[in-house]
Amino acid sequence: MQTWAIIAQKGGQSKTTIATAFAVEAVREGASVVILDADDRQGSALYWSERRDVDDVMVKDSSVAGLPLHVSRGRSSGKLDLIIIDTPANSKDIAMLAAEQADFVVIPVAPRGLDVHSVLQTVKQVQQAGTPFAVILTQVPHQGGEEAEARAGFAAKGVALFDSMLHFRKDFYKATPIGKTAVELDPNSKASAELHAAFAEVKRLSGYANKLISDMA
Ligand SMILES: Nc1ncnc2c1ncn2[C@@H]1O[C@H](COP(=O)(O)OP(=O)(O)OP(=O)(O)O)[C@@H](O)[C@H]1O
Ligand SMILES: [Mg+2]
Repeated sequence: MQTWAIIAQKGGQSKTTIATAFAVEAVREGASVVILDADDRQGSALYWSERRDVDDVMVKDSSVAGLPLHVSRGRSSGKLDLIIIDTPANSKDIAMLAAEQADFVVIPVAPRGLDVHSVLQTVKQVQQAGTPFAVILTQVPHQGGEEAEARAGFAAKGVALFDSMLHFRKDFYKATPIGKTAVELDPNSKASAELHAAFAEVKRLSGYANKLISDMA
């Protein structure tokens, strides 16, 4: 049983895209998964689940104050394999709390020069919480030096980075508004392959166990 938090102080960095995609990947492996949505605006994980035609991923609204209780209840229920916390932009308090509750933090960043700089603030907070984390590049342009620049920048600061990344692809932004993930939209797409790779990597980095609740019965 693990808890992952997806945190980026800046808006539009693919937090919800990644939270929902990782949840669906875990469910496809047979895991029992809850997304705790600490974001109450449109476009959040809750909004995604309302548009989803299957209820395989539970999405629970969670106020900031309720987050620790939701996580501890989920942990002690013995019925969950994975809790994913989707956090809102621009809230230091929620980011801090989510980082404290999590076993592993994923920090997505779209490499556009300035964004890389702003993410270092998020990195600092997560380091304060003492939770293991790694940055994942998202919405990476297909051409240009952004990826290499970002990788070099993070390496210079000693910040752990996913080898896998998500390029800017239509399948990502087409999937979320209809309650799907890019994998479900087209399992053979490049977006799908990128999600598979990112999910394999987050499992490895976080030490997520392959032993599921359903296997233990
Ligand atoms: N790799 C990608 N390629 C193309 N579009 C993407 C990609 N990842 C996310 N998007 C799109 O970018 C927008 C922002 O993504 P998302 O909602 O996941 O970010 P967020 O960090 O959760 O934003 P917020 O801070 O508002 O909660 C959405 O329209 C989403 O569909
Ligand atoms: Mg979001």
